[in-house]
Amino acid sequence: MMVVGLILLCRNNKVLTFLWLLRYSGDSNASSEVINEDDSFYVNMTTEDLLQPGHVVKERWKVVKKIGGGGFGEIYEGLDLVTKELVALKLESAKQAKQVLKMEVAVLKKLQGREHVCRFIGCGRNDRFNYVVMQLQGKNLAELRRSQPRGAYSLSTTLRLGLQILKAIESIHEVGFLHRDIKPSNFSMGRLSHNCRSVYMLDFGLARQYVTATGEVRPPRAAAGFRGTVRYASINAHKNKEMGRHDDLWSLFYMLVEFVNGQLPWRKIKDKEQVGVMKEKYDHRLLLKHLPSDFRQFLDHIYALDYHIRPDYCMLSGLFERCMKRRGIKENDPYDWEKHYTDNSATTTVTTSPAVISKPPLAGSILTFVDKPAIIKDLKDKTEISTPVPPGTHGTDNMLDDNIMASFEDHGENETGGVKEGHLQGEPRQAG
Ligand SMILES: Nc1ncnc2c1ncn2[C@@H]1O[C@H](COP(=O)(O)OP(=O)(O)OP(=O)(O)O)[C@@H](O)[C@H]1O
Ligand SMILES: [Mg+2]
Repeated sequence: MMVVGLILLCRNNKVLTFLWLLRYSGDSNASSEVINEDDSFYVNMTTEDLLQPGHVVKERWKVVKKIGGGGFGEIYEGLDLVTKELVALKLESAKQAKQVLKMEVAVLKKLQGREHVCRFIGCGRNDRFNYVVMQLQGKNLAELRRSQPRGAYSLSTTLRLGLQILKAIESIHEVGFLHRDIKPSNFSMGRLSHNCRSVYMLDFGLARQYVTATGEVRPPRAAAGFRGTVRYASINAHKNKEMGRHDDLWSLFYMLVEFVNGQLPWRKIKDKEQVGVMKEKYDHRLLLKHLPSDFRQFLDHIYALDYHIRPDYCMLSGLFERCMKRRGIKENDPYDWEKHYTDNSATTTVTTSPAVISKPPLAGSILTFVDKPAIIKDLKDKTEISTPVPPGTHGTDNMLDDNIMASFEDHGENETGGVKEGHLQGEPRQAG
């Protein structure tokens, strides 16, 4: 009953209008970069969507449903008619000023074969949209946190997620890129029995190459535009300084604090500048309250880093491992969402235990709509955004080599429009 009610709620025009207003009030926020909230929990399908259920892309990927829509694109679950597997399709309108999918494809390809990375399946474009097809994952870490009774993860879950996220960040740094939008909704758990306990890193649209062709760290720009999501952005990023590897780790730090506490002190503040000021004044040691005392070392380390210094990933992962060992936390222990509990305030009952998983949880399944309290809470909590790349840069705020960029092939379309030749294969540009 609750499920139907909520689906109706989501389809109710007034509610949809309300959601749109929220999005656009974000747009007109003092920091004009605000275009997109974090932690998107609802998926509002409209007739303006680039695809509808049943559409087939490139005669191969049949749209099942929309599962996400961020500031830069639309994400759909699809069925691969060739392999019969479920896939994720990420689209951006060919018309939109901020083109970031080319970067997404470039980085995804660079990362292929690594842990915590979705398998790349295909990409292309037509006159209406650019798209990338990749392995479909399960729920993102923002959704999963909010579906917890306290809106927070246990220390056991936090430490194990933290360690996987750290390794994912290390991987992207190893291939010469910064992610620059590390936040819970950019990480998903796998959805199949063999990978549902693995974290996957998503969304490379704001990535930037920080090394030169010869592997040296690029000289930092004197000033750079803000990139990322206000809630998780480092103080450095707030100051429009060139972001480095340490900034991704600062965002991880804020994520960890939010995981265990259920919130960050600046969660209700919308204005980017105000959040920056608050972060600067805030005694970050207070954020460590619910984390093991070892995390003082994490904080000290990221404070000590700058753009040029390579973070000590090994020391940081050792810290997680030490804390886990001391507390008797085992890799096979159930994650919070795998434990059996009944939340009285909602209809959600999460019952999957790792030992008995026979059926993988469906990504973006109906459960997405079940957590009513979380949805209501979220509507009040739309302060999070990713910032766009400037119009016309096509997301190449970067130094991508031509091979990677050229690999964003052009593909013809079935049912969705005509074919245009590879305009995405143009010269890589570098933002100023
Ligand atoms: N491969 C995938 N499998 C399953 N779900 C996915 C996948 N890629 C993205 N999603 C879902 O769609 C959401 C938005 O995706 P993504 O972050 O890539 O888009 P975005 O438009 O860049 O979003 P934002 O600007 O909000 O960060 C994710 O939070 C996740 O829930
Ligand atoms: Mg995202």
